[in-house]
Order: sequence, then C-alpha cells, then structure tokens
Amino acid sequence: MAKILVTGGLGFIGSHTVIELQKAGHEAVIVDNLDNSSLDVLDGITAISAIKPSFEKLDLRLKSAVENLLQRHSDIDGIIHFAAYKAVGESVEKPLAYYENNIGSLVNLLQAAEQNQIKNFIFSSSCTVYGEAKELPISEDSPVVPAESPYGNTKQIGEEILVDTTKGGKLNAIALRYFNPIGAHESAIIGELPAGVPQNLVPYITQTAIGLRQQLSVYGDDYPTRDGTCIRDYIHVVDLAKAHVTAVERLVEQKNNQAFEVFNLGTGTGSTVLEVIKSFEKISGESLNYQIVARREGDVTAAYANTTKANNVLGWKAEKNLDEAMTDAWRWEQKIRN
Ligand code: NAD
Ligand code: WQD
Repeated sequence: MAKILVTGGLGFIGSHTVIELQKAGHEAVIVDNLDNSSLDVLDGITAISAIKPSFEKLDLRLKSAVENLLQRHSDIDGIIHFAAYKAVGESVEKPLAYYENNIGSLVNLLQAAEQNQIKNFIFSSSCTVYGEAKELPISEDSPVVPAESPYGNTKQIGEEILVDTTKGGKLNAIALRYFNPIGAHESAIIGELPAGVPQNLVPYITQTAIGLRQQLSVYGDDYPTRDGTCIRDYIHVVDLAKAHVTAVERLVEQKNNQAFEVFNLGTGTGSTVLEVIKSFEKISGESLNYQIVARREGDVTAAYANTTKANNVLGWKAEKNLDEAMTDAWRWEQKIRN
C-alpha cells in the first residue's frame, strides 16, 4: 500500500483517480483549492469508495503552504499532480495566470518534494504537445511542436522542467499525455463539471440534449477526414484514472526504465465529431440539435494515440469504448440536472 498525494484531487480526472487509488488499496491525500471543484466531490468519493480521503484546501501557488504540507506528509510515496488551469481559450486571454498557476505550482511542489526526499512524480500532460502530427496514430516519438496556446505551452514547459529535474537522480517522473478525456463514474456520483459554457464537445452535447444549450455547433465539415469533421481519441475518464494508478505503482516499485518517461493515454481509436454525435444519439435515444458552422481556430484535423508503449511498457490498456463513455456522460448529465 502506498500513500499518494493527489493535487487537484477534487477535479474531474483527479476525483476518479482517487477512487481507483483507493480501490487498489492505496491511501490518497487530496489537496485542492476548490477553484474549479467543490467539496461535494469529496462526499461523492466517500459515497463511492466508503473511504473518506484526507483533504486539505490549499493553493499550490503559495510556496510556504506547499513546503509546510510536504513537511507534514514527508512519508508520502508519490505525488500525482493534476492541479492546473485547463481552458485553452482563457489561457490566450490570461497567459500570466496560466504560467503562474501551471508552472508556479509545479515548481513549488518539486522544490518541496526535493526538500522532503519525495522521489516519485506523475504529471498531467496533454496530446496538445504534438499539434498537427505528421504521422497517425501519434506515438511518443512524434515531435513536440511549438504550442498553439499558453495553456499548451505550460504542458510543454512542465515536461521540460521534469526532464531537467530528473537528471539530478533525486526524482523519477512520468508525464502522461492524455488524449480527450470524457465520461463520468458509472455510479453517476462524480463526473465533469464545466464552469460556464462548455468548450469541449461531449459536455456541450449532453448539455444541449438536456436543454441547457440550444444547439451544438460542429466546427467545420471540410477537413480531409472520412466525413469532413475532426478526429479525436476520446478516452473514458475511469480508464485514464486507472493508468495513473499503474504509473505511480511503476515508480513506487522502481520499475521505471528511465528517470523521466512519457506515455500516451488514449484508446488508439479516432472518432469524428459526427461519429460522437451518432454514438450519443444511439445510446440516449435522443436526436441532437446541431448545425455545421465554420472551423474553430487552432483545431487540428486529427489526433489519436498509438498506445503500443502504454500497452507494452506501462502495462495499461483502455477498456471502455466510445458508446460506454457516452452512456456514462449522459447518465451523469441527467443526474446533475434533476
Ligand atoms: P479540473 O479543473 O477538473 O481539475 C483540476 C483541479 O485542480 C480543480 O479541482 C482545481 O480546483 C484544482 N486546482 C487548480 N489550481 C490549483 C491550485 N493552484 N492549487 C490547488 N488546486 C488547484 O481539470 P481536469 O480535467 O481534472 O484536469 C486535470 C489535469 O489534467 C490538468 O492538469 C489538465 O491540464 C490536464 N489535462 C486535462 C485534459 C482534459 O481534457 N480534461 C486533457 C489533458 C490534460
Ligand atoms: C473535440 C472536437 C472540435 C466543441 C481540448 C484541448 C486539449 C485537451 C482536450 C487539455 C474538435 C469539436 C468541440 C463544440 C465541436 N485539454 N467541437 N463543437 O479541442 O480536441 O482538445 O481538450 O489538455 O488541450 O485543446 O477537444 O472537446 O474541445 O473538441 O465541433 O462545441 O469537437 O472542433 O474537433 P480538443 P474539444
């Protein structure tokens, strides 16, 4: 059994990861400043697992608070660092807030980890680092290209900080590059809670179907794909959560091959926007109100993962398909609106 600090543990991916850590017999300690989450999620986690994780409301931008936290928890075996801002568009409006939170918090944590001899670190990265990849599916060898947004840049810089920090022999780190996380816990007790108007496709679909939004805009049908709409690799959040347990165990058990490793987390299957809509209509029996509009700036044509390294080296594979993820996303949307 390991004791794992989960930053941003009340957020979308963090909360599902806490459940999977607990299921695997580990102890999760959550820190979150509730900037994009609420204490209800803590109750949700406790309801699902019957274990109330320890929780501390803390802002990771505050260096002394982070130092104090890790001094008090110097017995932790590893850190899974989710806490960050994640809205691509907002990052263009407020770049400094993104650098301050996503980079500042990371540096604070790494310094405090070093001071307390905490050696194992998992970082939330993103497929956005690959941009418009030349080869599909995208493997970890695909080059990292200049970021389209300050948000994307914080993920690239975050990885570079880990490359440098792990050279000293005091830290082992894994960066997990997520493709498109969707869905919710099958209990519908926890799930994704986008603030304001959703920017991401799946919450926009479910909010349209439930009546919160009038119509989904499909951003472009003139891409060079099988139906003209963009292709993405949509991965169920519970599959993603399980990968974090596998990754942190890999470090705690010292099974890593290098001090810094990178894995793609996706299903390996690409779906077009229209295929996602069809999947939703099939699983819900609802007909979705949508129209094709102009392309959205910054969207790449296609991105889906080559999962060979995650399958063979990490020993993890996504188990749930698009229909299952859409079923859980829809169940969650219905639950929170009733
Ligand atoms: P989320 O916003 O639901 O969760 C992040 C949590 O971190 C929130 O609960 C928020 O309150 C907390 N937080 C933010 N800043 C903090 C700070 N300074 N101190 C303490 N807590 C803080 O986001 P998510 O979707 O669960 O994403 C988790 C991580 O995965 C992020 O790093 C994100 O960039 C990355 N990621 C997400 C996606 C996605 O599509 N959801 C894709 C790729 C990568
Ligand atoms: C998916 C597809 C849109 C909304 C973003 C971030 C990325 C990562 C995941 C954090 C695209 C289309 C969307 C809508 C639409 N996050 N779409 N109508 O853009 O692949 O990735 O989230 O790291 O960094 O950029 O995800 O869900 O926004 O879009 O037609 O209202 O759905 O054009 O093809 P994206 P998304």
